[in-house]
Amino acid sequence: MHLSKMVSSGVASLAFALPMLGFAQASASNACSGSSCVSPRDLGWNTVVQKDVIIMGGGASGLYAALRLREMGKSVVVVEERENFGGHTSTYTVPGTGAPINFGVQVFGGDETAIRRFFGFYNIPLIQVQPSMAPQSNTRHVDFKTPTGLQTIKASKLLISAPPTLENMAPLLLDSREIPLFSSFKSQGYFVGMVNVTGFAPGDEFYNMAPGATYSLPQLPALYQISPTSVAGIYQVNYGAQEDYYPEMLVKADIIATVERVRRSVLGATVAQHLPPVKLLAFSSHTPFSLRVSAGEISSGFYTKLDGLQGYRSTWYTGAAFSGHHASHVWKFTEDIVNRRFA
Ligand SMILES: *[C@@H]1O[C@H](CO)[C@@H](O)[C@H](O)[C@H]1NC(C)=O
Repeated sequence: MHLSKMVSSGVASLAFALPMLGFAQASASNACSGSSCVSPRDLGWNTVVQKDVIIMGGGASGLYAALRLREMGKSVVVVEERENFGGHTSTYTVPGTGAPINFGVQVFGGDETAIRRFFGFYNIPLIQVQPSMAPQSNTRHVDFKTPTGLQTIKASKLLISAPPTLENMAPLLLDSREIPLFSSFKSQGYFVGMVNVTGFAPGDEFYNMAPGATYSLPQLPALYQISPTSVAGIYQVNYGAQEDYYPEMLVKADIIATVERVRRSVLGATVAQHLPPVKLLAFSSHTPFSLRVSAGEISSGFYTKLDGLQGYRSTWYTGAAFSGHHASHVWKFTEDIVNRRFA
């Protein structure tokens, strides 16, 4: 998420490029400085959208907040830098049959009330399953007409639902109270994908374990797991990197190389060499994943100070950095914030 600036003088005023790939300029009254600065009028936008709440990030927490706030009669705008809403959810559609396979998020567990409330917004019925027995379901994509180009949005409240990394937060012109907190976060690389590989037996599943290491976790960067899906020959993979800046090109290459290596060791080199090469069918990044701080920072009150930022400069926060990565916990936390601070 790359906002350029935020002017907070009673109202928050933001201008974005949507999808947010480019540079954006703050309110019309704000002088334009810097070569990449463009005013909304230059791009043919001269309307200013006025909303109660701007939500920065269209993942699990941002969408929950948007639907809940709308239910409460508030007007909202959700700003998302990716092409699609839905955060870590990803679906691969098998060519030919059109069968959908979810590979970003497969099951929702944890807080049942929060799960029921979220899917209730969409009138989606729920069934209880064992993770390994998840039945094939229908996936429907909904197209929203969204503007492209630069847009100025004014709102009295800002809800940050994107990961509050220094990079994501910098455009909001952080102050001396906010900078030390947001710069403390460390995060890691986490990636998911779908691969086409022939030769494994039905039901084969592979975990990368390092015997002797803490929790038998492999040294990162590494592939964590190769798991079968409902379609033969298509496997889901997860990949981790210690640093959140690990290049996606290297991740993709290492996924293919690792799956090839596993196949060679399972089938033997002679058999494996005659099989079609492993192909990466789909890929998605969940980076920056697992924002966290050191134990020392926690014991010296990091989360108390972080929580103290709720409402500071008319800005509130939700998302995995505040609640953990379980969608239901994210929704429960968001419900609490929205209920207590936006009602
Ligand atoms: C997977 O690979 C096999 C063998 O190359 C091919 O026949 C099949 O169509 C591929 N499936 C997908 C979904 O790409």
